[in-house]
Amino acid sequence: MTIANEDLINAATEAREHAYCKYSGYSVGAAIVDDQGRLHVGCNVENAAYPLGNCAEAAAIAAMVQEGGKRIARIAIVGGYRDVAPCTPCGGCRQRIHEFADDETVIIVYDDSKSWQEYSIDELLPASFHLD
Ligand code: THU
Repeated sequence: MTIANEDLINAATEAREHAYCKYSGYSVGAAIVDDQGRLHVGCNVENAAYPLGNCAEAAAIAAMVQEGGKRIARIAIVGGYRDVAPCTPCGGCRQRIHEFADDETVIIVYDDSKSWQEYSIDELLPASFHLD
């Protein structure tokens, strides 16, 4: 059964509730549909040693890989301090998404007006670095 974009956003929103973000106060949730149509979620996890904090997208990608997912079909990202505000992936996460994305991958950025924007990885990371 296909996961609707609304349900993917809801999954990211639920994941966001688990964010450990005591230093920034900015919570993020990410939800992926992989190449097999399966759902994987993640939230940001910060650390007292600030650079050790992990982004929500990194957690969701790690969950996908650990469960055998190969590619990102769609990824939804939800973030904000309290209420949801548009949260486009940071530069590092654009590269992380790129690793598992193709031209058809849809990156969904939820905003505060109950709607969302859809991007391709090439829009978010043009002239990207890759080894092949
Ligand atoms: N954060 C994410 O989880 N994903 C992003 O793409 C942007 C930033 C997190 C990292 C940190 O815990 C908090 O948001 C504030 O930067």
